[in-house]
Formats: sequence, C-alpha cells, structure tokens
Amino acid sequence: MSFKKIEPKHIEGNVIAAFDNGWGLVTAGTEDNFNAMTISWGQMGCLWNRPVCTVYIRPCRHTYSFTEANDRFTVSLFDPTEYREPLMFFGTKSGHDTDKMHAPGLTHMEIDGCIAYKEAKYVLVVKKLYSQQFDPALVPEEVRTTNYKGVADDDLHRQYICLIEAAYERA
Ligand SMILES: Cc1cc2nc3c(=O)[nH]c(=O)nc-3n(C[C@H](O)[C@H](O)[C@H](O)COP(=O)(O)O)c2cc1C
Repeated sequence: MSFKKIEPKHIEGNVIAAFDNGWGLVTAGTEDNFNAMTISWGQMGCLWNRPVCTVYIRPCRHTYSFTEANDRFTVSLFDPTEYREPLMFFGTKSGHDTDKMHAPGLTHMEIDGCIAYKEAKYVLVVKKLYSQQFDPALVPEEVRTTNYKGVADDDLHRQYICLIEAAYERA
C-alpha cells in the first residue's frame, strides 16, 4: 500500500464521522519503541491560522507516556467498514502488558520519522502545539457522571491540539 501527500484541506468526508465511525490510531514513539491506541474522540479544524488535529488521551493509557515524551506522532484514520477487529484490539489491549508493536492485523510503517499504519485511509503526521488536562471543576456534571464515572480527577483526558505537519491519503 502506498500513500500520496495531500493538503490537509483535501481530506474528504465528515470530520465527526471520521472519528466517531471510522476510528483512528494514535501512534507515538520510534520504530524500536512505540505504542498505538484506538481513538474515537478527536477533531480536525483550524486554529491560529494552522490546520490542526486534536486528540484526547487519558494518563492511564500506555500511549500517554509516548505522547508526553514525543513532540511528534501520527493519527491514522480508517474507513469505518475496514479493520474493526484489529482496531478493537488496539482499543481494548494495553501496551502496559501487551506487545502492540507486533500486534496482528495491521502493519506499521515509518513515515516522516514517525510510525503509522499502512492500512489507514489517511495518515496525519502531527506536532503538539498545546496540551492540557481537563480541569475536573470545568467538566460538566452530566459528563462527569457518565463518561467519567469512577474516574479519578487526575485521570481525565489530556487534550493535545496538534499542528497537522503532513497529511497522506492511501493510494
Ligand atoms: C472505539 C474506541 C475508541 C476509543 N477512544 C479513546 C479516546 O479517544 N481516548 C482515550 O484515551 N481512549 C480511547 N479508547 C480506549 C483506549 O484505546 C484503550 O484504553 C487502549 O487499550 C489503550 O491502550 P494503551 O494502554 O496501549 O495506550 C478507545 C477505545 C475504543 C475501542
């Protein structure tokens, strides 16, 4: 599978569906030490006159230590009809106790000095611009009692607003 570089503005489809239905993989680290996890919360848009992608990662995720340690990482976006089984694997198993570098079903590749997945529909190479953990005092009560039931204050998601340095579409 090969990829062609495109303008971030030429990514097709609805952004909400891309995350909520298609799902993505955040992959951070290097060829010999990386981790990936499934995401369905995220946005793409424009901030500070730049194309950005925002993702949300809880500190308890193994991937979190990689997104904290690396300024650049990738967001691989998938077609909603493809690769559900491996994406569920990446979204239910943790690198804390599973070797996700050699997980079945998806093939990692090096791209612009980062790691992403050959089966993705789009690969975004991103660079952190701004990150901040959700402040428990500002999270709406109905979210606290549903999305964060039983979650400690210090394990609410950290948002990473990232510059889209490069976008690639599977050819
Ligand atoms: C469909 C789906 C979407 C998910 N979206 C997110 C997300 O946006 N942010 C997050 O922190 N966890 C999300 N998760 C949970 C992580 O993918 C999951 O906890 C994973 O096992 C973490 O892997 P890690 O510990 O190797 O980083 C999602 C899981 C699934 C199945």
